[in-house]
Amino acid sequence: MKKQIAVIIGSTRPGRIGQGIAEWALTQLDRKDDVEYEIVDLKDWKLPILDEPMPPMMHQYQYDHTKKWSAKIEQYAGYIFVTPEYNAGYPAGLKNAIDYLYTEWKDKPVAIISYGWSGGASSSSQLRQVFERIGMKIAETRPQLVMTKDMFNDQHQIANVGQSFSKYANDIKQASQEVLEQL
Ligand SMILES: Cc1cc2nc3c(=O)[nH]c(=O)nc-3n(C[C@H](O)[C@H](O)[C@H](O)COP(=O)(O)O)c2cc1C
Repeated sequence: MKKQIAVIIGSTRPGRIGQGIAEWALTQLDRKDDVEYEIVDLKDWKLPILDEPMPPMMHQYQYDHTKKWSAKIEQYAGYIFVTPEYNAGYPAGLKNAIDYLYTEWKDKPVAIISYGWSGGASSSSQLRQVFERIGMKIAETRPQLVMTKDMFNDQHQIANVGQSFSKYANDIKQASQEVLEQL
């Protein structure tokens, strides 16, 4: 059976640019015959603010939404997070989705791709700290996609994601390679 790697879209906003970036990033990832990538969209999960009575490390989940989220994340051998930067951090919804679980993430390889006016550098380094605490194997290469105003159309969408971020393609491939090496 192929190993599966999740590409997690960190933004849940209507009108987000993150979905397009994640879908493009997916096409740039390093390929191996025994590995397949799948997009996991937090927007589809609609997780409430963490409401489990027991700490996640005890793995005694009470609610169906947690059991389903746990089973979903458990199935992956590694993760690639695609995150925006909000007020110098990563989105609250992303932190919430991470905090629901523990053993499901622990010891697994992870890469962080961020975007923002400064490449989402703060978001990326904060997320790295979180993954360090959980005990994940973090890819050293953390692509930080710098947005500029001229990339956007009138609907605040990036007109051509591939063209705008082509210079990060190698970094994205490298980050995914580092995940594959740790599988
Ligand atoms: C609540 C909020 C806070 C933001 N703060 C930052 C920031 O600190 N740094 C930055 O580079 N961009 C910031 N932005 C701009 C985002 O990078 C931009 O809106 C981008 O489209 C967000 O990604 P998304 O569309 O995938 O949600 C912020 C946007 C929002 C909605």
